[in-house]
Amino acid sequence: MNGTHSPTIGIVTSGGDAPGMNAVIAGACEELARLGGHGLGIFGGFAGLASRRAEPVTAIQARMHMHEPGTWFGTSRWPRLREPEGVAECGAALGRLGIDGLLVIGGDGSMRGARALTPICPAAVVPATIDRDLEGTGLTIGMDSAIGYAMDAIDRLRITGRALPGRAFLLQTLGAPNGYLADAVAAAAGIDDVLVPERPFDLDELAVRLRELSAAGSAIAVMSEAVGDAVRTAEALAARSGIRVHPTILGHAQRAATPSALDRALGQAAGRAAVGKLTQGESAFIGLTSGGAVAPVPLIHAAASTTPFDNQGASP
Ligand code: F6P
Repeated sequence: MNGTHSPTIGIVTSGGDAPGMNAVIAGACEELARLGGHGLGIFGGFAGLASRRAEPVTAIQARMHMHEPGTWFGTSRWPRLREPEGVAECGAALGRLGIDGLLVIGGDGSMRGARALTPICPAAVVPATIDRDLEGTGLTIGMDSAIGYAMDAIDRLRITGRALPGRAFLLQTLGAPNGYLADAVAAAAGIDDVLVPERPFDLDELAVRLRELSAAGSAIAVMSEAVGDAVRTAEALAARSGIRVHPTILGHAQRAATPSALDRALGQAAGRAAVGKLTQGESAFIGLTSGGAVAPVPLIHAAASTTPFDNQGASP
């Protein structure tokens, strides 16, 4: 981009919403204000881009949404971007909207969508998903908040479990198709019993353990939604253990957790870094280290994903 042109950067959130997406938008808009560029908010994900649902957004507006979970731009799952027609529709919209660079905030499917558009326009991807379905990044924006939300639920189960011992709880997290989120929640809560698709588990053994732990009121197991139905699993454990086993399904409420301090701070930093790359005319994947720093790499070098593209949750 030359020195006299004031760049217009499109900003799109895509796929499942994640806490901290609004912080990424805010960081991007602030950097654009600093550099003298323009932010164009794209409403409704890539489907919204194809139909040119876009409005200028300012840093002041963006800051007003920083504390909110979800994404104030809205999002969509738009499998059409896997097809050449969808790419062409988005490409035409990028041209008509005068977009010089596209900031894509989302997970694995969103990164693939961004890559498909790079022959048309530079794209920078900030990994934002509670699922951790991307390689090449130590953290994703949203995970810390989603873990914190589950932590709060476990704290409360411990309180009621201790008050009324003799029963067990089975807490189910989101995070399909992998068990990363459930594992991270269990690790943070100090819970050994966690059911994830990556490891075999034995319900008979788990039932025995829960019965033992229930005497002290601390019988809590965590399961990923990726291993199946929590109500049925709790029933199976109850039948085997002879004690009541209560399923607690966090569901989509977990995805709308209040953004944590980490997700807000790192989200803003990632948004600023993405705009820095895009205003240089570069495509980038804004990797995030597990220590909480931004580590951009060229988008083309970002590692392949952990999930197949045709997975429902991975749609752009
Ligand atoms: O965005 C990721 C995710 O929240 C997964 O954890 C979950 O399995 C999936 O989205 C749910 O998808 P949908 O919002 O389409 O129901």
